Amino acid sequence: MSKHLLIGNWKMNLLPEDASKLISQYVSLTKNSNRTQVGIAPTFLAMSAVIAECNSSDLWIGGQNAHQENDGAFTGEVSASMLQAIGCAFSLTGHSECRHVLGESQDLITKRSSGVLDNQLKLVYCFGETLAEKEAGNRSKVLQDQLLPIMELINEKNHNQLILAYEPVWAIGTGKVATIQDIKDSVLEINEIIKNTKPFCNAAILYGGSVKPDNYQQILAVQGVSGALVGGASLKYEQFLELYKISENC
Ligand code: PGA
Repeated sequence: MSKHLLIGNWKMNLLPEDASKLISQYVSLTKNSNRTQVGIAPTFLAMSAVIAECNSSDLWIGGQNAHQENDGAFTGEVSASMLQAIGCAFSLTGHSECRHVLGESQDLITKRSSGVLDNQLKLVYCFGETLAEKEAGNRSKVLQDQLLPIMELINEKNHNQLILAYEPVWAIGTGKVATIQDIKDSVLEINEIIKNTKPFCNAAILYGGSVKPDNYQQILAVQGVSGALVGGASLKYEQFLELYKISENC
């Protein structure tokens, strides 16, 4: 049976010293992991310090975003090839804060995703509908619009690198979790898109959006959900510990 995934997105939090302390707790926690692959996406600033703490652990460290070009005049950016070179295992792309707060277009996100795949990193591709899109009955269309361009990048060689993180935007950082039925419906639609485009691909599907110890068990029990992308709760050791225990025992 493949492992559950528990990916923490630290967003713009924790200076290197605090990031090192927290990651060393996660390294100890996951030492004898049976059922769970943990990954953490710290800030770029804390990346080296965090990787240094992970020496002999199998924890994955990854970027919160990545530029598709290897290097060059791209102020403020870090490339997928740089992440790969310093020991990252994955990068997120398409996070709703990049789409809706920083204004990244699907076209840019698709290029970034391509760069991540080309550099042999796992791609944790984030997508999901906003509240307005959900209320207008457009969830399926949004899933298609955001997933089809990524499926076009997938081939027989790179399909194992793809991890899909379905995150309804209205559930991120709000304390509002999608209902189990919402999650089931979305997972079915996502699997349908995969089947109709790249049937050989069996990408893990994660749920993200206000995942906490009191809701995770139910979410992880949904058929087709292999884990979670966690923001707030990944910054608090006690909460992350509980999520990890659920993941190990589920
Ligand atoms: P949250 O964030 O768990 O704080 O809702 C999830 C995410 O942004 O990936």
